[in-house]
Amino acid sequence: MTIDGLLALHTYRTSRTGRVPLVLLHGYPVDHRMWDDVVDLLPGDRTVVAPDLPGLGVSPSGQDVAAALGRPAEPSLETAADAVAATLRAAGIDRAVVAGLSMGGYVAMALVERHPDLVAGLGLLDTKSTADDAGARANRLRVAAAVQADATVDAVLGMRRALLGETSLVQEPDLVDRLERWIRSQGPGGIAWSQRAMAVRPDRTDVLAGFGGPALVVIGAEDTVTPLAAAQHLVGALPQAELVVVPRAGHLTSVENPEPVAAALDALALRVDDADRAPGSSG
Ligand code: MLT
Repeated sequence: MTIDGLLALHTYRTSRTGRVPLVLLHGYPVDHRMWDDVVDLLPGDRTVVAPDLPGLGVSPSGQDVAAALGRPAEPSLETAADAVAATLRAAGIDRAVVAGLSMGGYVAMALVERHPDLVAGLGLLDTKSTADDAGARANRLRVAAAVQADATVDAVLGMRRALLGETSLVQEPDLVDRLERWIRSQGPGGIAWSQRAMAVRPDRTDVLAGFGGPALVVIGAEDTVTPLAAAQHLVGALPQAELVVVPRAGHLTSVENPEPVAAALDALALRVDDADRAPGSSG
């Protein structure tokens, strides 16, 4: 579903039970399909949607999204977060459990900052709240320039192995091919926009300290892109966070070991349902 030039929203399922919907934000350099296996394992009594972030999957380019929102043309995760919020509201979702993996986590944190009323529960998977150092920022800008100069995504294909854990690489080599297909289906413009947006993201640790709702932090036991220490830092910042370490998974926990990820997301959403039912709740 595409709404007024905003993000493509993939509706996995619609439920009329009144439970808080679950919104899944994908990582870089892929799209909403990285949630498919997790959603298959979730109970069917909750609406589950996943947008494609600007320029990725079948969403409009970051430039078009920024123009539609009246935002500055420079790539930013603030624009991505505003686009997610506008897309959800246009689809009738005013309050949700929001879970994001890696770049999706950065966008989820920007949503908490900019649209706090939308976020009833927060899931942060294989992500971090800190900003890039100068070296990481320069590398992102180099990659963005390379994909645009080549007009292909070849410059990012190498990272598909780094995204997967050692167990997946040895026991599930098909995942490398799956990831390659997903990466090759992205446009170089969307890859470049995402890298430039991530390069300028601020530290949002303080934003997490102000988030009082139920929260979940997930990390792959074999994640070398975002180490366990980054997840522990998130848990330390969030007042109500539970930590789940996913065995036999690297950075792409939702793809590599979807069962514990689905169980953790379901438990988070149930915590939000419970909090809504508590006496005095306005949820
Ligand atoms: C991702 O998986 O979204 C990326 O690793 C995020 C990043 O490059 O920081």
